[in-house]
Amino acid sequence: MTFSARHLLGIEPLHPVEITTILDLADKYVDLNRQPNKHGDALRGLTQINMFFENSTRTQASFELAGKRLGADVMNMAMQASSIKKGETLIDTALTLNAMHPDLLVVRHPHSGAVDLLAQKVNCAVLNAGDGKHEHPTQALLDALTIRRAKGRLHRLNIAICGDISHSRVARSNLILLGKMENRVRLVGPPTLMPSGIGEFGVEVYEDMAEGLKDVDVVMMLRLQRERMDGGFIPSEREYYHRYGLDAEKLAHAKPDAIVMHPGPMNRGVEIDGDIADDINRSVIQEQVEMGVAVRMAAMDLLARNLRAPKDEGVYV
Ligand code: NCD
Repeated sequence: MTFSARHLLGIEPLHPVEITTILDLADKYVDLNRQPNKHGDALRGLTQINMFFENSTRTQASFELAGKRLGADVMNMAMQASSIKKGETLIDTALTLNAMHPDLLVVRHPHSGAVDLLAQKVNCAVLNAGDGKHEHPTQALLDALTIRRAKGRLHRLNIAICGDISHSRVARSNLILLGKMENRVRLVGPPTLMPSGIGEFGVEVYEDMAEGLKDVDVVMMLRLQRERMDGGFIPSEREYYHRYGLDAEKLAHAKPDAIVMHPGPMNRGVEIDGDIADDINRSVIQEQVEMGVAVRMAAMDLLARNLRAPKDEGVYV
């Protein structure tokens, strides 16, 4: 199995074998993370810088823990207080940091494509921690690992991604990954929250939750991304919850053993009923968080091996 990528900018460029390679290594890190001694040395001596230009709780915390558990020196840049506020461009900030010889740069940015641009300017490995509405590759990988462990496989599953699709990088990365692994993905939500022309991408699109959830194995809920909305996309939160909020009645249309997912942060009573989110027999939301640390350890480990490998040679794992 080969993993030859220099950066992790999105799911789009990954081959299914590379996806499987990351997930297999992540499984090993799940075991390590459950031990009292959680230390590995895959990143020993390396410097990891986290640059988050957008708010984050779980993604930033899990990248930080992942780096620390593998022995990297981890620095979190306080981007709110950085020179960006003084007018410095993203690229100048990146070049400044690049001169300090980081090995891994973890970047979240509100603009789609900003992380790709930055990756072209620096010498280290860049990991996309979410860029605008574009991609959030480690989220899709942690979701894939969660599904694979809960269902015992990651192919030929029926998966519904529900809610605010059009503003969601999580939906986009998941759609690409789950498609590559040969699952049937449905999108469910109001037409105002569907990207235009989505029907041409070979996915089934539903406006009605009862129809969209019928017999699915996985129900993936999304947050209403209000920070990316500039107008009235939904009538009211109450109305939205009534039609699209996941409650027991709507979930009853899915398979009896269907799992419920949410990338967080979740708005209880808006896109999901609190009791469903907390139901340990259905919800795998906490497992997603656990898998997040392991997947980020695996991704950074593989990228670090490529940093150390002679140029143009992927590593064999
Ligand atoms: C997601 C994101 O930032 O795109 N959150 C996350 O990384 N766990 C989804 C969201 O913000 O709703």
